[in-house]
Amino acid sequence: MNLGERIAAVEAEIAATVAADARAVEGFRVGMLGRNGKVTLLLDELRHVPKEEKREWGQRLNQLKQAASARLEELKGALASTATAQGPEGDATRPALTGHAGSLHPISMVRQRITDVFARIGYTVSQGPEVEDDRHNFGALNFPADHPARDMQDTFFVEGGGGELALRTHTSSVQVRVMENSQPPIRTISPGRVYRNEAISARAHCMFHQVEGLYVDRGVSFAELKGTLEHFVRSMFGPDMKIRLRPSYFPFTEPSAEVDMSCTICAGKGCPVCKGSGWVEIMGCGMVDPAVLTNCGIDPEVYSGFAFGMGVERIAQLLYRVPDLRLYWENDVRFLDQFTDGAFRA
Ligand code: PHE
Repeated sequence: MNLGERIAAVEAEIAATVAADARAVEGFRVGMLGRNGKVTLLLDELRHVPKEEKREWGQRLNQLKQAASARLEELKGALASTATAQGPEGDATRPALTGHAGSLHPISMVRQRITDVFARIGYTVSQGPEVEDDRHNFGALNFPADHPARDMQDTFFVEGGGGELALRTHTSSVQVRVMENSQPPIRTISPGRVYRNEAISARAHCMFHQVEGLYVDRGVSFAELKGTLEHFVRSMFGPDMKIRLRPSYFPFTEPSAEVDMSCTICAGKGCPVCKGSGWVEIMGCGMVDPAVLTNCGIDPEVYSGFAFGMGVERIAQLLYRVPDLRLYWENDVRFLDQFTDGAFRA
């Protein structure tokens, strides 16, 4: 066979090659383009071609080499797609497919961390309905019918509930249910979704998550409340964190306080997030009002208790530096992906 015929034969062979597995593809590569491959050997023959024909044969041989390379890529591609279709048995040598595993939502992760801190110091977890009656959300918690404190927790009323059924505005409603159904000692936290009639913005949403806590027993003191919250903040954010309490008002606690902690962004030095104060507000708390204990069938002459409540989105924002509350609920995978490996932990 002359050179032209041999080129044509190899060309035909390239076009006709099929490969059932990775070994066959590799065999094709070696057989054609390897050191002693058919294409390589033909290219070597260019040396013996008369000078004036070199250009023409050179082009022809280059085309042949390109055809072999192109076929090799096709075979590899076909193999990858059959292997995918066939599952792992298709080709045990191909690289593993790394699928998108997904992860917990950052709010679930943070709720879990908060729950863990309290579970370790003896708190149980209580849950209750999101559609709540007036008594559990307001009445038993000492919100008189026309009290302005109800305006701060305006919510969504449920049709057909006669004005009695609404989406709960806090999980204090769950604590009422726990107190109605059990006697002290009570040590429980209630994580869950709550709703308020708020315009949605970077700082407010009509739905958010809370973890509220309740401790009722003989002789429970304000000092224990402070110690518990300090323990919580240090467990979540680090041992150097400080807290401070500012007097506040809630209908169901007396005395009541807002809890601030050292700003996580500037470590208390003062920055735009804490408006230069070095402190950020994280929750409300107080001693359970004796009237609330009475409303729930617990004798305030014998027992006392404290309660606290925090927003999970707020805690997550301080842990992960999330600038806008709305990001949590837009389901943008680029946002959610950032929390898969804990890299954003403080
Ligand atoms: N229930 C309050 C709220 O949702 C928080 C709170 C709980 C305050 C317990 C004091 C004591 O705003």
